[in-house]
Amino acid sequence: TLRPRLPKPRAASRVIVAQAGNGSGSYKVAILGAAGGIGQPLSLLAKMSPLVSALHLYDITNVEGVTADLSHCNTPAQVAGFTGKDALAGCLLGADVVVIPAGVLRKPGMTRDDLFSVNAGIVRDLVAAVADHAPGALVHVISNPVNSTVPIAAEVLKQKGAYDPRRLFGVTTLDVVRANAFVAARKGLPVADVDVPVVGGHAAATILPLLSKARPKAAAAAFTDEEVEELAARIRDAGTEVVEAKAGAGSATLSMAYAAARFLEASLRGLDGHDDVYECAYVQSQVVPELPFFACRVKLGRGGVEEVLASELRGLTDYEARELEDLKPRLKASIDKGIAYVQQNQ
Ligand code: NAI
Repeated sequence: TLRPRLPKPRAASRVIVAQAGNGSGSYKVAILGAAGGIGQPLSLLAKMSPLVSALHLYDITNVEGVTADLSHCNTPAQVAGFTGKDALAGCLLGADVVVIPAGVLRKPGMTRDDLFSVNAGIVRDLVAAVADHAPGALVHVISNPVNSTVPIAAEVLKQKGAYDPRRLFGVTTLDVVRANAFVAARKGLPVADVDVPVVGGHAAATILPLLSKARPKAAAAAFTDEEVEELAARIRDAGTEVVEAKAGAGSATLSMAYAAARFLEASLRGLDGHDDVYECAYVQSQVVPELPFFACRVKLGRGGVEEVLASELRGLTDYEARELEDLKPRLKASIDKGIAYVQQNQ
């Protein structure tokens, strides 16, 4: 059996050591949009997870091939494929975690917001099915624009009486993964030692890496103002870097699948009873009172979000505090757009 080599999620202040979870150690995961650029490598990584016993793959196209292919990997997870709207209920039934990378992606020159008109409807319909058939599942929304698709998902779940804010996540792990990779390269540090919290939202200027809170602390203290601005700009524009390099052939898929698998593994470890699992994610919170959704480091547990670590927003540098003020109206507008979409498209 191949052993996954995903990084262990890190605690805010210490490296997590493997602990015996007191859960079942065996979970059902559904991936909606499993045949796509992100969906395929994410499904592979999920198939490699020792915590996944059943892997349900759903897409509107090509899911049979992906299912047949993956089912030949000699890892324990049982793979089943589902296609077409009628199959969605069967795919979702009993799912512990539902991951949603379904939708359309960015082409050169597009912003994440340009995807809104198509992806809003896809996320609305898929999340409505989750409310009907897997109301207790953790929901990981990858489809962009995450700043709006997560509020859409929340509204749909509320309408269906199935909303628990602790179980709904916008996946922003890729921003953290990129921040860690870029800081390690810049400072010549072993990448496993680097941990940069990234807060705010998941689009351009709403992405706020908190370099002053990066670990190791010595590296954070050594950043010059120029370095902070350069690194923040690169982290924010990293998605566009990939879109342009692929020149029309797609957006980030491999690094995104890696990041989504890391977040999935963290969530499963939380469900399994490990008590020291922390990741940044875009969740409902009161950390910034005017923003009902905000990406922040959270503690993951049996019920999903167990705690939002508001303390990380204390003691910001002047630059970070200014950037936080700047992103508030942008993020608020994206949140309001998502909520309005559901209200106007009942
Ligand atoms: P892709 O186009 O390669 O794959 C999307 C898949 O979704 C396709 O297989 C398609 O058939 C499927 N799909 C479309 N409508 C569907 C429906 N109603 N039900 C089920 N499946 C459906 O796109 P890719 O590269 O996989 O990206 C997917 C999404 O993830 C995009 O919206 C992209 O912007 C977003 N993304 C998010 C990131 C993040 O950090 N959260 C990073 C990179 C991309």
